[in-house]
Amino acid sequence: METKHFNNQKKDIQEAAALLQAGEVVAFPTETVYGLGADATNDEAVKKVFAAKGRPADNPLIMTVGNIVQLTPYVEISDKATALMTAFWPGSLTIILPIKEGQVSMLVTGGLQTAAVRMPANEVTRTLIKETGFPIVGPSANLSGKPSPTTAAHVQHDMDGKVAGIIDDGPTQVGVESTVIDMTAKTPTILRTGAVSQEDLEKVLGEEVVDGTSKKALSADQTPKAPGMKYRHYAPDKDVFVFDPLDWFDLQEVLSERDAVMADEELLGSLKDKNQASWSLGRNINQASENLFAGLRYFDDEAKIDKIYVQSMPDMGLGKAYNNRLAKASGGRLFQGLDRD
Ligand code: TXA
Ligand code: MG
Repeated sequence: METKHFNNQKKDIQEAAALLQAGEVVAFPTETVYGLGADATNDEAVKKVFAAKGRPADNPLIMTVGNIVQLTPYVEISDKATALMTAFWPGSLTIILPIKEGQVSMLVTGGLQTAAVRMPANEVTRTLIKETGFPIVGPSANLSGKPSPTTAAHVQHDMDGKVAGIIDDGPTQVGVESTVIDMTAKTPTILRTGAVSQEDLEKVLGEEVVDGTSKKALSADQTPKAPGMKYRHYAPDKDVFVFDPLDWFDLQEVLSERDAVMADEELLGSLKDKNQASWSLGRNINQASENLFAGLRYFDDEAKIDKIYVQSMPDMGLGKAYNNRLAKASGGRLFQGLDRD
């Protein structure tokens, strides 16, 4: 299949909308990561998304909309859900809601009686979805198991020849996927961390929100996980190790020319070997999240590199989402500082 390349012009958006209406798959930009779009009300179109990604069929998809009206035929929107939408949409929050019986394809929900819904903060994509007239499914536009794409070039790398079109609206801003909150649980529960934090959610809901991704919640095993979180995710083929900035100088003693480091500008400024392969995570946690997946993808494709060492961030706010994705990419492997005692 020839993959068409679109930009953010009106004519291109209309052409992309026509492909979606014809039941084809088109990759679209959002503020978090790029997504793979298809008509959520057309099973044949939805099947093409699973096929292009190589995604297991029991992993449900997000329904992505351009406005709230597009959701009303499909899900029950409680007052609390409305409060979340008002506060965080368009933006990086995905909300799990009960479906209206028989109104959403079982392919989309993976057989669940709930659906994940989201309105992204990207003008081009909201225009696109309003133009089509139906919600589109929107999993991240990577091959299943690979880091999510934060540029159209990443999407092309994984999806060229497998989808009908890719809309390029430049690099994404947030860089990690949306926060997922389950509003069908007794206590609202975070299933995936993202730019919208537990504190942000508690403020708007005026009640406790459980972080279902925390070690405590997982070991007590009281909380259902997002079905997708059980799969290996975000992982490059190369070996990835997480390092604590406190171990920066120890790390430099073991680095070889086949290793790459991903660190913030401050650390890289003190890199002793100026020939060491490196990738800047920028100056703060926002820039680090924005740059994380791009760096992993870059070194994954570099034949000269065997191992990638990536700096961890303070575990708060967006740092929780960053550390969570990094833990998955590394399979939990840590660089242990040298112990010279
Ligand atoms: O930022 C994002 O959310 C991106 C952009 C493209 O919008 N999309 C994205 O989609 O990350 P995806 O499919 O890669 O991740 C959706 C997550 C998966 O872990 C999935 O298992 C979970 O949401 N999910 C979907 N429907 C669910 C449901 N009914 N109940 C629980 N979890 C659900
Ligand atoms: Mg994904």
